[in-house]
Amino acid sequence: MTLSIPHGGKLINQICLDYDYSSLQQEIEIDITALSDLELIANGAYSPLTGFLTKEDYEFVLHHMKLKNGSVWSIPITLPTTEKAAYHLQKGEKVKLMFNNTVYGLLTVEDIYIPDKQLEAQLIYQTTDRNHPGVKKLLERPNVYLGGPILLTKIPPKQAAFSQYYKSPEEMRKVFKQKNWKTVVGFQTRNPVHRAHEYIQKCALESVDGLVLHPLVGDTKSDDIPADIRMRSYEVLIEHYYPKKRVFLSVFPAAMRYAGPKEAIFHALVRKNYGCTHFIVGRDHAGVGDYYGTYDAQNIFNHFNADEIGITILCFEHSFYCKKCENMATSKTCPHEKENHLHLSGTKVREMLRTGITPPTQFSRPEVVDVLINGMKKET
Ligand code: ADX
Repeated sequence: MTLSIPHGGKLINQICLDYDYSSLQQEIEIDITALSDLELIANGAYSPLTGFLTKEDYEFVLHHMKLKNGSVWSIPITLPTTEKAAYHLQKGEKVKLMFNNTVYGLLTVEDIYIPDKQLEAQLIYQTTDRNHPGVKKLLERPNVYLGGPILLTKIPPKQAAFSQYYKSPEEMRKVFKQKNWKTVVGFQTRNPVHRAHEYIQKCALESVDGLVLHPLVGDTKSDDIPADIRMRSYEVLIEHYYPKKRVFLSVFPAAMRYAGPKEAIFHALVRKNYGCTHFIVGRDHAGVGDYYGTYDAQNIFNHFNADEIGITILCFEHSFYCKKCENMATSKTCPHEKENHLHLSGTKVREMLRTGITPPTQFSRPEVVDVLINGMKKET
């Protein structure tokens, strides 16, 4: 076996750091999500995308979970701008993409269109409820979408607290080759790694060469634990409990969408582009509140055949600590009654951490808890 083939056949590279954009007049301001998408399109993490979705591709993604060329794609990667900004733009022209008064790239405008955001919310998030953090953000972003190919002319700033953990798909593939890993499982998370996460990661690691702990560190909702604190918690966890030669920590700088099943497909395809051959999908992957069924994010992969996805999905049941087994388990491996099972929701744990209460060791490693409690104290 070799590392996975990128989605669509080859890794896209739309980076041109010495591009001379001095003659370009037009510019638009983009938000932090679009900035992270710009970088991830350019460095190939979103292969086969070469730019922000045109109307036709956007509609294909909404209705068929595919691009018009037939590749599976489940999350619309769009570039929203205001009506005022769009008014001055014409198809075919090049526009500088600005964030905080700095040019990060350019877009060749191929399409200017007004999306039906209610429909987008319903089809991607399965709800139009504004309380859903993904829907809220979708509705708050400007109302006109620009589509077309991009170039990245400046690498966006890395978060200083963990800048050494940024790796492009190409760099990550090199790391895997150096380590001589032929099979690699990717793990997405926006949370600290608790015992349930550790359990499913290690179950997976029993049958592959390496594990990539690939936490998402882009924009998340305000009550998620900040990325710098999480990164320290991953470091101590690896230090004390993981075989260092078989695990690699690196960040995924995308924004979180909280789109549950549709985001699970997206997360898997992107990790394929980073070189992973396997990807973990556990309970309520990328979910929030009660918007999705516990295993919807696993079942959605049944819409496609294995070749269309091109990365092996490792599904895990809801895992917990069983007092009778004295071990982590799932309903597949534990025969005991529910009252023996320790479940703590992420929300409950965040509440405990904020009030300085230590979650039990059966839920989280003490070294991880220390980092989180200290981190949360500094936050408040
Ligand atoms: S998210 O990125 O998917 O929103 P989260 O940290 O909650 O982040 O989950 C990371 C991965 O672990 C997902 O694949 C999720 O399905 C899985 N997971 C989280 N908690 C459990 C659990 N108790 N049992 C099984 N899988 C879990």
